[in-house]
Amino acid sequence: MLRTGVLVSGGGTNLQAILDAIDNGTVTNTEIAVVISNNPGAYALERARKHGIPAECLSPKNFPSREAFNDALVEKVDSYGLDLIVLAGFLVKIPEKMIAKYRNRIINIHPSLIPSFCGVGYYGLKVHEAALERGVKITGATVHFVDEGMDSGPILLQKAVEVKPGDTPETLQRRVMEEAEWKLLPAAIDMIANHRLDGDKQEGGTGK
Ligand code: GRF
Repeated sequence: MLRTGVLVSGGGTNLQAILDAIDNGTVTNTEIAVVISNNPGAYALERARKHGIPAECLSPKNFPSREAFNDALVEKVDSYGLDLIVLAGFLVKIPEKMIAKYRNRIINIHPSLIPSFCGVGYYGLKVHEAALERGVKITGATVHFVDEGMDSGPILLQKAVEVKPGDTPETLQRRVMEEAEWKLLPAAIDMIANHRLDGDKQEGGTGK
């Protein structure tokens, strides 16, 4: 069983996709041991509680410094003895000591085809605004390992999504989630849980 922790900041639709995939057997050999949010109002915490999963909140606002928050976050993560940490819309910079400690055991979902529209400043709707502004016809999502850079770690899976005439950032964001993110993140977890790190063999994988 892959003991997995999911870190969230918002609505948690990606978390929901993971929970559903475990429940319906699409993802196997995986247990969600904890959901941690930096935002007490995150609906993702509610989704975790409804599922009987420990839901923890650590807000930077409740700590005297960023360093104190970072230490508490690492301590919290450590206390659950996790094999894998999944960033599912987590809007906090991961402390370097956590990256070093959990190298190749932290994955992130990014709503574009990296290396397009990624890095500093590209998060949430901004990614889709930039894609529309550039006029790309294809966008998508990427699951990658987290390293010290911004969206710069090794890529695990990618899936392309068509941009349609008349798309707004909101409609594009929704299509990228439905067609790519909600499939890709569970697929990546299943690959890791079952020791198959060859994305080309996965449904929802590289698109082959
Ligand atoms: C997703 O678009 C994810 O790619 C981005 O933040 C969003 C999270 O949505 N980083 P949700 O909280 O999973 O609904």
